[in-house]
Amino acid sequence: MSYGEDLLQRREAVVPAAVARFAGKATAESASGAIITTVDGKELIDFVGGIGVMNVGHGNRQVLKAIQEQAEKLTHSCIHIATYQPYIELCEKLVKLFPHAEGPHGQTKAMLVNSGAEAVENAVKIAKQATGRSALVSFSEGFHGRTLLCSTLTSKTSLKAGCGPFVPEVYRLPFPNYFRYNDGLTQEAFVDRELHRIRQMFINSVRAEDVAAIIIEVVQGEGGFCVAPKDYLTGLRKLCDENGVVLIFDEVQAGFCRTGKWASYDHFGVKPDLSTWAKSMGGGLPISAVIGKAEVMDAALPGTCGGTYGGNPIACAAALATIEEMERLDLNARAIEIGKVVEERWQGIMEKSEWAVDVRGLGAMQAIVFGQYGDRNTPASGMVRRALDASLERGLLAIPAGAEATTIRFLAPLVITNEQLNEGLNILEEEVLKSIAVECRQASDSTLQAPG
Ligand SMILES: Cc1ncc(COP(=O)(O)O)c(C=O)c1O
Repeated sequence: MSYGEDLLQRREAVVPAAVARFAGKATAESASGAIITTVDGKELIDFVGGIGVMNVGHGNRQVLKAIQEQAEKLTHSCIHIATYQPYIELCEKLVKLFPHAEGPHGQTKAMLVNSGAEAVENAVKIAKQATGRSALVSFSEGFHGRTLLCSTLTSKTSLKAGCGPFVPEVYRLPFPNYFRYNDGLTQEAFVDRELHRIRQMFINSVRAEDVAAIIIEVVQGEGGFCVAPKDYLTGLRKLCDENGVVLIFDEVQAGFCRTGKWASYDHFGVKPDLSTWAKSMGGGLPISAVIGKAEVMDAALPGTCGGTYGGNPIACAAALATIEEMERLDLNARAIEIGKVVEERWQGIMEKSEWAVDVRGLGAMQAIVFGQYGDRNTPASGMVRRALDASLERGLLAIPAGAEATTIRFLAPLVITNEQLNEGLNILEEEVLKSIAVECRQASDSTLQAPG
């Protein structure tokens, strides 16, 4: 038995299955750039980045240096007890990078916590206090984390099975996924229909006057990298303004250079009232942020937000160094380059096999969607799982996305070399095509064996 298999067995003995494994038998001993070395000493090209966390790359020297230097000075004092420089410096940086308020007098504020889910929790608490309202609206295929509130906001039922009762007063709209829900409409007519649906919701399901916030991922992460149409976001912004509803953009997976911009909403010229950030912001350390218009942020009462470890000094130092590295390496430009390569290669798979039904995303946040024999409504989850397991055997770490795990997503560190990128894409393409062939063969064998 390999050390890796032994480790997985030890995991099974002490870690509950609820802490799921999404990447088969992968293990990790160390990592550098876009390469993870397993506990058995095998090198894996990393197309996952710890689920969108490592945009700046594993083992970035500047980030490590900042962590070490900060650890020597101060590891913890709690922002609620003694104010420290890295927390303030990071918030100053965030409000500069992501101004939410318009006009010369508009002010933006930021607060720090530890995870994406915590950022969403805090954003919702702020929105509720700012509006004095209780209802929330989220979207189908949306994902916002695993606390009870975030599970409620999340769409995918398998991720919250048996965890109810959920938080009351959460309503769900279909995500404006043109690919899935277009019903033959033009994009313009589709957007009109979806915006009309929100107005109808205010009449039939929940009064606008009772809605504190609408939370949306501009580019869905776990949901399968669907991109909301620009006109939908513009219309949503207008509806929120007209009805005093706080608009929250969840940038946890799409933010910090993944899409080729600091914020995915920067592609569309639509700004939220509040936004949530985590993952790649910390370069591997647990840190997250809520950023928002000062008038909204300041509506929350002292003591209602934050927590013991929120904005830990070491995590803040890591985030500051991460952002600096993103600027120095121009990772936004690199994300665009990488995204083009991935998109082109995956369009190539679409040309080779009818099973590939869509390639979508923004910048380096790319996904390829599969449907059995080209039927977009019949998930090809088994085929995808087999292809990913076989890819892992050959040295590529990749994971699925989407409610039915019928999509493969690309979240590699943006420091990946062209050679590593191409090698990873070659492995994936070969294994996907092989897996499709296996599936077709099995189907034809079972037809031949079926009793006449
Ligand atoms: C869009 C989005 N929001 C929130 C979360 C939750 O983040 P965390 O797992 O850090 O709690 C995730 C995690 O994947 C996410 O993709």
